Amino acid sequence: MVSQVGALGKHLALIGFMGAGKTTVGREVADRTRRPFVDLDREIEKRHGPISEIFEQRGEEEFRRLEEQALAGALAGPDAVLALGGGAVLSAVNRERLEARAFRVFLDVDIETAWERVRGSDRPLARNEQDFRRLYETRLRFYAELGDTAAQDADGVVLSALNIVVPGGLLIAHPYVVIADERVLALHPRERDETVLTVPAGEDAKSLATVERLWAELRIDRDGTILAIGGGSTTDVAGYVAATYLRGVRWQAVPTTLTGMVDAAIGGKTGINTPDGKNLAGAFHFPQSVSIQPHYLLTLPEEERHAGMAEVVKTGLLAGRELWSLPEVEMTRACAAFKAGVVLADPYEREGYRTILNLGHTFAHALEAGSGYRVRHGDAVALGLLAALRLSGQPTDAVEETLQPRPVTADLDAAWHALKRDKKGDGVFVLLERPGQPVVTTVADDDARAALEALIAK
Ligand SMILES: NC(=O)c1ccc[n+]([C@@H]2O[C@H](COP(=O)([O-])OP(=O)(O)OC[C@H]3O[C@@H](n4cnc5c(N)ncnc54)[C@H](O)[C@@H]3O)[C@@H](O)[C@H]2O)c1
Ligand SMILES: [Zn+2]
Repeated sequence: MVSQVGALGKHLALIGFMGAGKTTVGREVADRTRRPFVDLDREIEKRHGPISEIFEQRGEEEFRRLEEQALAGALAGPDAVLALGGGAVLSAVNRERLEARAFRVFLDVDIETAWERVRGSDRPLARNEQDFRRLYETRLRFYAELGDTAAQDADGVVLSALNIVVPGGLLIAHPYVVIADERVLALHPRERDETVLTVPAGEDAKSLATVERLWAELRIDRDGTILAIGGGSTTDVAGYVAATYLRGVRWQAVPTTLTGMVDAAIGGKTGINTPDGKNLAGAFHFPQSVSIQPHYLLTLPEEERHAGMAEVVKTGLLAGRELWSLPEVEMTRACAAFKAGVVLADPYEREGYRTILNLGHTFAHALEAGSGYRVRHGDAVALGLLAALRLSGQPTDAVEETLQPRPVTADLDAAWHALKRDKKGDGVFVLLERPGQPVVTTVADDDARAALEALIAK
C-alpha cells in the first residue's frame, strides 16, 4: 500500500457550523457506508445531560472539556462517521487528534440556511442572529483549514471520502506519466508538455503484453504518479500497472466512458485478462483521486453510452431511485456516489456486501461466455437485470424502457456451464426484494436455467 486514500481505514469526521446538517447527513452517510454513527453532542448529552444546561450551570469551558473527552473516546473506537459540534474544532487537541485519525469533511452551508435551521432552537450559541453571524465568521477559517475537503450533501461526502470529484478539475500530483487509450487521446489531445504512454483502444488493452510494455516504458520512481485517461479498460490496466510497478505507485483516474465514470474507475479493483478469462489477474489498488469530467462523454459512441446506461439502471435499482431519468451530470454523480458508498462499506470485498454490485452480472457473464464474448457487456447486463428482476418477481419496465434488451445468440449449455462456474455461481444470486433492497440468495437450478434460456434468441 503506497499511501492512504480518503477515508479508507480511518474515521470520517463531519465538521462545520451549527445548522450545516451534520447529524442528518452523517446518519445517512453512516447508513450507506455501514459504519457506526457517532453524534458527539448526543454522546455528551447521554452522559452529562442537556447541553444547554451544561453551558448554563458549568460554563462553556467545562463543556469543551467534556467534548474533548467524548471525541477521544469516539476516535478510539471502530472506524465511524462522526458528527462534531460546531465548536469542537476550536480545540488544538481535538484538531491534532482528528488530523491523526480521521478524514475530515467540511460540511459547508451558507449562513442564511444555517440560521433558518437553528433559530428558535435551544442552542446556547444561536440565540441572536448577529452573534450567530459573527461566530460563523470566526470559525469558518478553522473548518476550511482542518477539512481535507468540503461537501454540501451526503453524496458529496461519500464521493469526497474516496477523493472522487464530479464534475471535476484535476489536481495532478507531480511527477507523473499519462497512460491513455489511443482513441481517447486522438479525440482529446493533451496540450501540456508531458510524458504520454498509450494503450490499445478498449478491451485489447487489458493484456499481459500491455503490462510488460508499460513496465518497460515507465520512467518514474516511487514518488511518481500514473494518470490513467480512458474507459474501464484503460483504468483497469493502468491501475494494475500502478499496483505492481515498483511494488506499487500512486495513480489517478480520469474515466472517459459512462461505464468508467459510474463504475470501473471507482472502487480500487484493477486487473487484466488472462487466456483463461476476464479479470483473472488483478489487485486492489485505489486511485488517489478520480476526476469525472463529463465533457468526455460528448465524443462517446452511442453504443458505449448505451452500455454505460446498463450500469446506471443497475445502480438505480440497487439504490431504489430512478437515477436513469436524471440529467446526465446529476445521474453520473449519483451513480458514482452510490458505488462509492458500497465500496466504503466493504472496500476489499471481505464482508460480502460489495457483492450487491453484481446485480444482473451472474447472468451477464454467462451470456458473454456462452457467446464466445461476442455479446457486449452492457447488452449482457441489460439482459441479466431482466432475469434478476423476473426471478425477484419485480416489474421489468424500467429495464425494458431504458435499455430495450433483446435476446442474444449464445450457446445455452456453454452459458449454463459458465454460470455454474462463475465465482458467485454456486446457486447464489443477487436479487431484489424491492428496488433499493438487494438480497443475496439462492435460486434453484431449474429456475435459474429457465431464466437464462429466456435471454437467448431461439
Ligand atoms: N474495475 C472495475 O471495478 C470495473 C467495473 C466495471 C467494468 N470494468 C472493466 O471496464 C472495461 C470496460 O470499460 P468501458 O466500458 O469503460 O470501455 P473501454 O475502456 O473498453 O472503451 C470502450 C471504447 O470506447 C472508446 N472510448 C473511451 N472513451 C471514449 C470517449 N470519451 N470518446 C470516444 N471513445 C471513447 C475506447 O477507445 C474503446 O474503443 C471492461 O474490461 C470491464 O471489465 C472494471
Ligand atoms: Zn458491469
